[in-house]
Amino acid sequence: MKRVSKDSFVQGFVPDHNHGSVDYTGVADGHVHQCLDVTSPPIQTHDGSHIHYTEGYVMYEDGHFHYYKAYSGPAIVVGNGMHVHYYDFYTSENHGHKHHVKGVDQPAPGNK
Ligand SMILES: [Fe+2]
Ligand SMILES: [Fe+2]
Repeated sequence: MKRVSKDSFVQGFVPDHNHGSVDYTGVADGHVHQCLDVTSPPIQTHDGSHIHYTEGYVMYEDGHFHYYKAYSGPAIVVGNGMHVHYYDFYTSENHGHKHHVKGVDQPAPGNK
């Protein structure tokens, strides 16, 4: 059995993995929300890379929360057998505003 720890160098594509992220939304209407996310497993793309789907709610703040559904960008190899994904999306509009969320998620095993 092959053991994979977060420090293992993993060559190629790992069919089952997801990515976490801890981020804040952009400011809108004078506040931000914390966004704690875990993506779906990978969705393979025609060019041999993969993306991830995610949906959820940002944290309750200022009397409301927002919903989001988004796809990440393709895998970005960051060395040591790991990769990350860029994300850039807007939340749902609630209380007359929406928030921009963009950044890079946490590295996961696989260099493809
Ligand atoms: Fe808000
Ligand atoms: Fe990934």
